[in-house]
Amino acid sequence: MRKPILAGNWKMYKTIAEAETLVAAIRSGVEFIDAVETVVCPPFVALPAVAAALAGSPVGVGAQDVYFEKEGAFTGEVAAPMLQGLVSYCIIGHSERRALFGESDDWVNRKAKALLAHGITPILCVGESLAQNQAGETDTFVRSQVQAALAGLSPAQVAGLVIAYEPIWAIGTGLTATAADANRIIGLTIRGAIARLYDETTAQAVRIQYGGSTKPDNIAGFMAMPEIDGALVGGASLTAASFVTMVQETLRARGG
Ligand code: 13P
Repeated sequence: MRKPILAGNWKMYKTIAEAETLVAAIRSGVEFIDAVETVVCPPFVALPAVAAALAGSPVGVGAQDVYFEKEGAFTGEVAAPMLQGLVSYCIIGHSERRALFGESDDWVNRKAKALLAHGITPILCVGESLAQNQAGETDTFVRSQVQAALAGLSPAQVAGLVIAYEPIWAIGTGLTATAADANRIIGLTIRGAIARLYDETTAQAVRIQYGGSTKPDNIAGFMAMPEIDGALVGGASLTAASFVTMVQETLRARGG
């Protein structure tokens, strides 16, 4: 059984003080929920404060990016050894980083390897553009992103990953994939690709989230789907009330 994982990607929102306030409210809101894993991904500078505020709680902490070199003259970058001990997760390959900061499939793959070498679980983002979706290229494109990101990883490493299927046209737009379409792409396209590249056991182990305009009032439909193992939440993770409601809705959709 794959445990659903709801992760809040705060993007470039929240000062350190705001992050502490938000995370304290999330912590108390999800305190007694064991059947859904909850993770917050604040900006780098808030990570130490957030990790301290969550010490002893089941809420996980994730970073939003990492650079793949161990150290060096890479102004502005943060390396995996610097995140080790501070976070258990790290988002890689988010479409905003791919589109705005030139993150390539090769970089995503190197970032995955750097994280895994330091005991941090990648949350690997994949997803097609509106044009690709309308041209019927979703399956081919998403499969190619998955294959490139996983190159050289062992079955055990892949089994422990979190993948987020985030159609770009659904991010921050209020549009979502239908739950049935998301379920199909996650199950057939992504899990199917992993089964072909690795094996069925590995494919069945990896947790795959949906992301893109998930909210308290639409999350249940996604979470009721058998292939969807949680969500990567942007805007709706920035207030404790909506994020906690989404964790509760996930629990309910799973019969908890
Ligand atoms: P929204 O939930 O704001 O659409 O963002 C989704 C996302 O990009 C999460 O990584």
